[in-house]
Amino acid sequence: MEPTEERGLKLPQLVRLLMLLTAAVVLVVVVVITQLYGPKTPPAPVAVEDEATQGPPPAGSYHRPATPAPDTATIPHTAAGRQIRYGRELIAHTAQYLGLRGSVAQLTNGMNCQNCHLQAGTQGFANNYLAVAATYPKMRARSGSVEGIEKRVADCMERSLNGRAVPDSSREMQAIVAYIKWLGQGIPKGKRCTAQAS
Ligand code: HEC
Repeated sequence: MEPTEERGLKLPQLVRLLMLLTAAVVLVVVVVITQLYGPKTPPAPVAVEDEATQGPPPAGSYHRPATPAPDTATIPHTAAGRQIRYGRELIAHTAQYLGLRGSVAQLTNGMNCQNCHLQAGTQGFANNYLAVAATYPKMRARSGSVEGIEKRVADCMERSLNGRAVPDSSREMQAIVAYIKWLGQGIPKGKRCTAQAS
């Protein structure tokens, strides 16, 4: 009787030992596999000069231009002034003129330029146009060529407004460009602002 009892006692111990061993082996294998093939430890974050995280951006930057937008009350009451006002109107209410049921042409979607370029492109931190007149024509990486304001405006009509652009010679394009130039009158030509669009 004794030997059987002894075996009866030892067997569960052996099974437990085997299970422990198996668990240990599985654990080691899992650790090795995750080390070899698992997600790599993310690289330490690189310090980036970011205006948004460093308090107020420097005066004169793209987002907070040193020269504020000129007062619309100073737009002259001349033919040139009417063109500037029409340009501003087109930026603010693009869809009404050029959208799906536009009164001038049906070229763009239901958006207005100022959905993205806030306050008709005059607001800091909101894709303002203040430095556009000073920095265009400029080299653009997208096309690899020097582009004027008209081409940049056309780009937004085609991409951002998912439509077709008004021709460069059209009353509408000329009015938009006139408005953008009027907005940038206080910024010296060639002035490069930080974080400006490319
Ligand atoms: C869906 C959003 C959106 C709409 C709508 C839109 N734009 Fe833009 N536009 C952008 C973005 C984004 C940029 C690039 C800004 C940047 O990189 O800082 C840009 C850039 C520009 C620039 C160049 C600015 C610079 O400083 O180089 C001009 C000019 C411009 N848009 C004109 C227009 C006009 C005109 C319209 C309306 C016909 C329009 N955009 C509608 C998003 C939009």
